[in-house]
Amino acid sequence: MSTDTARPEQPPAIRRLSRYARSYRPAVFRASLSSILNKVMDLAPPLLIGAAIDIVISGESSLVAWTGVDNTTTLLWALALVTVAVFIGESIFEYLQGIQWRNLAQSVQHGLRLEAYGHVQGLDSVYFEDRSTGDLMAVLNDDVNQLERFLDRGANDLLQVSVTTVLIGAIFFTIAPSVAWLAFLPVPFVIIGTFAFQRRIALRYADVRDQAGALNSLLNNNISGIATIKSFTAEGIEVERLRRESETYRRRNRLAIRLSAAFSPTIRMLIAFGFTATLVRGGTLAIDGAMSVGSFSVLVFLSQRLLWPLTRLGETFDLYHRAMASTNRILDVLDTEPALVSGPTAVANVSGAISFDDVHFSYHPDAPVLRGMSLEMPAGKTTAIVGSTGAGKTTVIKMLLRFYDPTGGAVQLDGTDLRELDLSGLRRAIGLVSQDVFLFHGTVAENIRYGNPEASDDQVTEAARLAEAHGFITELPDGYGTIVGERGQKLSGGQRQRISIARAIVKDPPILVLDEATSSVDNETEAAIQRSLAIVSEGRTTVVIAHRLSTIRHADVIYVIDEGMLTEQGHHDDLVAHGGIYESLWKVQTGDATRPHDRR
Ligand SMILES: Nc1ncnc2c1ncn2[C@@H]1O[C@H](COP(=O)(O)OP(=O)(O)OP(=O)(O)O)[C@@H](O)[C@H]1O
Ligand SMILES: [Mg+2]
Repeated sequence: MSTDTARPEQPPAIRRLSRYARSYRPAVFRASLSSILNKVMDLAPPLLIGAAIDIVISGESSLVAWTGVDNTTTLLWALALVTVAVFIGESIFEYLQGIQWRNLAQSVQHGLRLEAYGHVQGLDSVYFEDRSTGDLMAVLNDDVNQLERFLDRGANDLLQVSVTTVLIGAIFFTIAPSVAWLAFLPVPFVIIGTFAFQRRIALRYADVRDQAGALNSLLNNNISGIATIKSFTAEGIEVERLRRESETYRRRNRLAIRLSAAFSPTIRMLIAFGFTATLVRGGTLAIDGAMSVGSFSVLVFLSQRLLWPLTRLGETFDLYHRAMASTNRILDVLDTEPALVSGPTAVANVSGAISFDDVHFSYHPDAPVLRGMSLEMPAGKTTAIVGSTGAGKTTVIKMLLRFYDPTGGAVQLDGTDLRELDLSGLRRAIGLVSQDVFLFHGTVAENIRYGNPEASDDQVTEAARLAEAHGFITELPDGYGTIVGERGQKLSGGQRQRISIARAIVKDPPILVLDEATSSVDNETEAAIQRSLAIVSEGRTTVVIAHRLSTIRHADVIYVIDEGMLTEQGHHDDLVAHGGIYESLWKVQTGDATRPHDRR
């Protein structure tokens, strides 16, 4: 739940927002001033009409007679001039207010979107694992837009209603104190009703926004997994799932609508009562001569002016509460502190010696993944990690990139604890070819250059050659300019892998990490890539994870890990001779495994 009322630990959304939007205060002030002046001038005509009627009827004893001008025609002309001036002023301020609020809305939207996205980027892996992409997208997109919608219209409306009420109140109590209280009789009820309405609608809108996130998340997931849905002919099931989520969204909106739709008519009835009472009481007074006809007409005109903006209050509050529900969701994201904080030590002249010292780690408290892992990856050498699936190999890499911090022990780079190091510096020092390759929508060249935006065309081509990718890239319809599609889906698995190897090579990092980097290519290509990588990893700390042991047999040191612990270590030949896990894996892969029936 994310509303003012449901989350006592947080101040109301509007206060959170105003604290956040401190830098926009001058702009808010300017826009508000234009709104107020616009409204003041908008309310002047009824007064002027009243004064005109008064002049015509009462002549020299009229209300404006105090000016000393006793010629009624002159008075009328003066009034006409004032009216024209007021209309011009009103138009100018209407224009200003329009631009200022809208531009403010755009600026806040722009700023908030950038800030929220920038902040999200800095959050930890844990945050993304617990939150769905679609839901985050809903915050970064819909919720930000919702706020813009309110600032664009709602804020101005709210301000003008307040100004109207105050001004009309002042005029009423000045010209006809005996009637004014009747016109304002409904106002306390309107205020109390509005507050009661506020509390309820806020909860309902928070539900609506949460469900919008869930809906978005489902849609996002399904579109990404469309191939799987089709291959399992699960279209029907998915439509049904979407129907359920969408139905919930509709139901929650319906609950909110029921309440918000009842608001305006209720207010209107209260106002109508005040209006009628003013009409009757004021009329009686005017007939009796206790009130001038001019004052009476001002009263009637202004009651109406009070009426219509107040009935729109429901709509405005609606916008307001939708916006506040969204604001809470955005600010919740902004208030999420990254658990991993960058260290103070700059990363420079990396030689690349990595050590794991009794590292313990678990993604969930009751399922330890690394259980006292200690290993050294010497600078400038090639280290291989092998082990069965789920043993914790990729987790070791994630610890090295500091996607997570160990729960016990320490990971060090060149003798410094990673927690001490500048986080971006650390990650800049590592070139990663990860197990699940991710390519961005864009061209092949753009994807390779992601490793180093300054790389020249020649460097890109060279990296592609080393990754055995140049050949197939030149055969693509547009060569290096070919669009790879979202997540690189227009390429084969092996092609994607080779582009991601090129991307890591072009980065030219002191540490190169290859997690199953050639698992999707054929043996021949793999052998060719191995030859290139031998050149690339010369004098560079290289960490290789591979299931196919032939690819790592020449590593300087091989670590075998099992269930989050180091079980064997050494050179290929030693490990094969040692007769442990490594030896049996090797035998299976070289076809030497002696199966029971072979012995006979
Ligand atoms: N983000 C995560 N949240 C929770 N558990 C995870 C997460 N990532 C991995 N695990 C668990 O941690 C264990 C180790 O996973 P890891 O990815 O390190 O294995 P691996 O050795 O790389 O396996 P593979 O050879 O299949 O790639 C597994 O049991 C896995 O289920
Ligand atoms: Mg893995």
